[in-house]
Amino acid sequence: MALLNILQYPDRRLHKVAKPVAQVDDRIRKLVRDMAETMYEAPGVGLAATQVDVHERVIVLDISETHDELRVFINPEIVWSSDERQLNEEGCLSVPGVYDKVERPEHVRVRALNEKGETFEVDAEGLLAVCIQHEMDHLTGRVFVEYLSSLKQNRIKTKMRKQAAA
Ligand code: NI
Repeated sequence: MALLNILQYPDRRLHKVAKPVAQVDDRIRKLVRDMAETMYEAPGVGLAATQVDVHERVIVLDISETHDELRVFINPEIVWSSDERQLNEEGCLSVPGVYDKVERPEHVRVRALNEKGETFEVDAEGLLAVCIQHEMDHLTGRVFVEYLSSLKQNRIKTKMRKQAAA
């Protein structure tokens, strides 16, 4: 396994749109293992391939307190989302130290492939729903801070550039 470098906002590569995985093979399984190791090491609750500069539709997450419930979503698609929305504070390994509230559908149903290439579906609510939607946004080149006001985004960019230069 290997630790991967996590791109830091406002790196332009975070805005690339990921392609679907054509085949779930050993290359993808290695990517999943490396992403999981990188996420646990950070530590974080979720990571999208985009964040490690791999532009394919793969996300990993683990919202358990014991850090032993890894969830892998390959080619995830939201097949249903609720009209009810909820506001939650989010953070991101690509924007360390920044937390802010984002409104999203409260429930989502997601269809994806697992590491064996089998299709599965999950009904998600609460933190799991937030994390899945946050990570899926990364795959379309979207970072959560882009939901915030342009004033806030500019402040965050300035802060991140100062951190990078320090
Ligand atoms: Ni993120």
